Amino acid sequence: MKLTKKVLCVLLSVLLVATCAPFVFAAENEPFRISCAVNGSLATQRGITWYTNIDTASVVAYSDGVNEYTAEGSSAEWDGNFVHKVLLKDLEPGTTYTYKVGNGTVWSEQGTFTTDDGDDKVDFVVIADIQASNLENFEKGAAVVDKALEMYPENDLIVNLGDFTNDSTNEEWDYYDEAMADINRNTTIAPVSGNHDGLGVWNWFDNMFNLNTKESVQNLNGVNYSFDYGNIHCAVLNTNDLLSITDAQLLWLENDMNSTACDWKMVFMHKSPYTLGKDGKWPDALYLKDALVPVLDKCNVDIVMSGHDHMYLRTKTLKGDAVAEDGDGTVYVLAGTAGSKRYEIREFLQEHFMPVSYIDACVVQKDGYGNYFNGTDFDSVDENNIGGIFNHISVDGGTLVLEAYVVGDATGEAKLVDTLTITKATGENVPTFSGNNTTNELLYYVGTPLSFAKLAFYTLTNWLFKFLGMLPDLLRVYGETGTF
Ligand SMILES: [Fe+2]
Repeated sequence: MKLTKKVLCVLLSVLLVATCAPFVFAAENEPFRISCAVNGSLATQRGITWYTNIDTASVVAYSDGVNEYTAEGSSAEWDGNFVHKVLLKDLEPGTTYTYKVGNGTVWSEQGTFTTDDGDDKVDFVVIADIQASNLENFEKGAAVVDKALEMYPENDLIVNLGDFTNDSTNEEWDYYDEAMADINRNTTIAPVSGNHDGLGVWNWFDNMFNLNTKESVQNLNGVNYSFDYGNIHCAVLNTNDLLSITDAQLLWLENDMNSTACDWKMVFMHKSPYTLGKDGKWPDALYLKDALVPVLDKCNVDIVMSGHDHMYLRTKTLKGDAVAEDGDGTVYVLAGTAGSKRYEIREFLQEHFMPVSYIDACVVQKDGYGNYFNGTDFDSVDENNIGGIFNHISVDGGTLVLEAYVVGDATGEAKLVDTLTITKATGENVPTFSGNNTTNELLYYVGTPLSFAKLAFYTLTNWLFKFLGMLPDLLRVYGETGTF
């Protein structure tokens, strides 16, 4: 009898282990942090990334609704997990694909993306600075993106201008994943790294997404890459390293912008030289005005979109750091934050760094200091401006329309707060550069001290005097609010 009980116990234990084993196995192989990113042509390629807890095969199974395909990639250990990257190539333009990722046995939920059809009509969503550190605030940011996709369900591309997280820890990226997994799996992302995203570890951000960054050697706190979407050539810049921008990046950008025949040129980067937010006083971003703006002018970039200062601000068309009365120049947009960490305006900065005459539209997403620019001052208030912001860009041939929406905290409704329309003649842009634009590693490192010297020279000869001039205002604001 005792023996029978023992045998039964053993049998039950074996059965229990055998039943549970697949679930344990599945959990360890379960894909997470799945993303579908821009990687080369949006008409024919996508870069898929995901993570697992243990090392396993990297397979994407995808379908155009008629045929089934698989693609394999590679994995690598990264900060306690394994990152998997697969490049989907030779996709059919103008086609909606479904896909799932896994090891061939354990699969993720299904995702989807739609390839660019190659005509000159596209539209997409731009967000910035969710910069959350807990699940609740990531979910608030996700709700703003959900609203954008509810209004523009056909949009496949989302440009995220950086500061995805606050401290770039595994815990925060997992909250980001938990809050935005459906969005990330079902849209294509063009990610820009923020200063909160890199951890100061080479390639950290590059390991979150499968991007084509092979032309750049500067991947410490961010990434540089470019891509075409319809008739727009887009470049993404890393502005987060100690030098903000290096001569090697400027050369890469100039060649990159001069290599396109697209009618429209856009640059996405985290920091902006034109801001009235609290970070608008530091030399890292302001140096961009001296170093980067002349290159943008030379390359006829239409729009630069940035984040970092957690408010919405759009300049008039500028050229040579002045208003271009003929409309031939670049518009700089601070995209506002899609999250709930929002900054006040620092009006005194306009006397030193940012003339108010440059501003066409400004919305501060929180109370205090007024919350929108009425064309004269910043004292106007509208409770509906208190919320997260998303931007929507549409290009149809020679017409570009930028719209900014606040999704009200109180209402959940989207309110249009700014519209910009630019028109231009098409077919006139002739490329002047062709060939290899890969940054030479040796020249990058040799040139770094010179880039640093230029920043130091700007800081000591230009920035410092202006900073000392606004010190009384800074101290006053600190006394009133406890923050600079
Ligand atoms: Fe930032």
